[in-house]
Order: sequence, then structure tokens, then C-alpha cells
Amino acid sequence: MANILVIHGPNLNLLGTREPEVYGTETLASINKHLAQMAEQNEVRLRTYQSNTEGNIISCIQQAASKDIQFIIINPGAFTHTSIAIRDAFLATRIPFIEVHVSNVYAREEFRSHSYLSDIALGVISGFGRNSYLLAFEAAIIHCNQS
Ligand code: DQA
Repeated sequence: MANILVIHGPNLNLLGTREPEVYGTETLASINKHLAQMAEQNEVRLRTYQSNTEGNIISCIQQAASKDIQFIIINPGAFTHTSIAIRDAFLATRIPFIEVHVSNVYAREEFRSHSYLSDIALGVISGFGRNSYLLAFEAAIIHCNQS
């Protein structure tokens, strides 16, 4: 059974109330619920993790290798644009991953157009709200079934 980890970075615990004009009104709990339903339907194992702390996210990526995680979906939040350390954690563990954003980062401030992760990700999905996660999850399931 495929084992997929979804990591939500800083401030994503505030989804639902945080800048609703940008991020919508859906909460993180609701997004995780939809992911859990999809995991059940597709018979894959899902873990979700949220942290506002860069070091905790790095530890989570490092530990994923020993927990037999085959694929990671990550919304790194603002760490997307700043974190060489998260990039290095992915390079070290070599676990394939998809970078996800709720908003379309390319339609916003210029600094959001740069990511330290995109070029080493399997792919990037940005701008579809909750569906960014669900589309990434579908792609992750297909990838795990093929490998
Ligand atoms: C975000 C986009 C980032 O630029 C921002 O810092 C976030 C959320 C998104 O999901 O759209 O915190 O990753």
C-alpha cells in the first residue's frame, strides 16, 4: 500500500480565516478530511503534518525516509521562497515530492515567483485552492502505482 505524507507549512493552520480573498474560506481540517476520503477510496496510507517551524519540517522530511514514506506533497508556505534547508532535506532523502500552493503564486508579488524547491520537485500545482492538494494527491497515487 502506498504511503504518502502531506506537509503543510507555516500559517496554513490559519486557512479559513487568513486572507480569505487570497486563500478562500476552507479550513485546513476540511482539506485534510477530503484528502483522507481520497486516500480511503484509493487504498493508500496518508499522513498529514503541519508546522510553523522550519526545523520541524526538516525533521519531518528526514524522518519520512525511515517511516517508509514513498511520496511527499508539501505546501511549504513562505518557506518556499526562503528555505535552502528544506531544499537540502529533500535532496538528502531523495523522496519524490510535489510542491503545492493554494493561491497562484505567479499572479502575486514578484518574490513569490521564486521557489527553492520547484526545480527539484516532480511537479508544482498552484492556484486551485483545496484542489491543488487533491490534484497533487491524484498525481502522487499514479506515481506510486507506477513505481
Ligand atoms: C502559499 C503561497 C506562499 O507564497 C505563502 O507564503 C503561503 C501560502 C499558498 O499556499 O498559496 O503561506 O504557499
